[in-house]
Amino acid sequence: MVKNLKKFNLRSKCALITGGAGLLGVEHAEALLEIGAKVILADINLNALNKAKSNLSKKYSQDSIIIFVMDVTNPDSIKKVSNEILDYGLSVDILINNAAIDPKVNRDNFLTESSRFENFLLDQWNLEVSVGLTGAFLVSQIFGALMVKKKTGGVILNIASDLSVISPDQRLYKKEGLSEDVQPVKPVTYSVIKTGLIGLTKYLSTYWADKNIRCNALSPGGIFNDQDDAFVKKIKNLIPQKRMADKDEYRGAIQFLCSDASSYMTGQNLIIDGGRSVW
Ligand SMILES: NC(=O)c1ccc[n+]([C@@H]2O[C@H](COP(=O)([O-])OP(=O)(O)OC[C@H]3O[C@@H](n4cnc5c(N)ncnc54)[C@H](O)[C@@H]3O)[C@@H](O)[C@H]2O)c1
Repeated sequence: MVKNLKKFNLRSKCALITGGAGLLGVEHAEALLEIGAKVILADINLNALNKAKSNLSKKYSQDSIIIFVMDVTNPDSIKKVSNEILDYGLSVDILINNAAIDPKVNRDNFLTESSRFENFLLDQWNLEVSVGLTGAFLVSQIFGALMVKKKTGGVILNIASDLSVISPDQRLYKKEGLSEDVQPVKPVTYSVIKTGLIGLTKYLSTYWADKNIRCNALSPGGIFNDQDDAFVKKIKNLIPQKRMADKDEYRGAIQFLCSDASSYMTGQNLIIDGGRSVW
């Protein structure tokens, strides 16, 4: 084995992934299991957690996969899970803030005229910000403080988006036959949350640098997930590599960012988007 590959080894490390039962959460888990980590999937959706555990257990030891119902918007829920993790005799070395409310284009309820800036409801703003941004703050506060206490350092990785560096191209979401004022759009919350996560990343990277805690962000581009043909055709034209990502194409980045392979990297935003943000 190439000597440097040892730096990717996460044996004896434990990673907590919020939103761990979702499309990418399970991919992050598999990336870390592949290189020896134990993973804790935390999510509000118990059914999805059970399904994720059962699927991952087909390939990896059951003991390496722990699931917890946890609501990232609720400090009591996060503290309860942090105590339960300690009861397990574990402590978190790697935290991936991945939970978000991410409306999918292929779902019926995706993006109606209520998504438009002029119509966007305060309650919806508060809900989405509470999960995607406040959630990352709360979980980092509780688990980051434990990393500091443990004195062995750690890694915090915030999952942002290509929309942390570019504005949504609203032409992607246009529906034929609708007048301009009722056209659905990618909501303002998504841009604000993802840009905010980059601020949180930079803040924590310097705040805890002397505690040997590194904090970076990963900004994925859109993942192909059976979106309708018209949407896929439009988005491909915005991407130099002319395609959306496969869901497993971020695994290498997760392994790099969560291990000592990235030991001299902190405060950065790794953008993996088929080149979309370069155009
Ligand atoms: N899918 C994409 O194309 C894409 C692209 C770029 C960035 N991202 C980002 O990647 C991350 C994961 O996206 P995904 O596609 O897997 O989404 P997803 O909707 O499949 O998964 C999100 C998970 O978060 C959970 N969740 C929601 N509210 C929660 C709460 N209060 N507490 C704990 N968990 C909660 C959900 O139950 C779900 O399992 C998100 O931050 C998303 O913005 C996704």
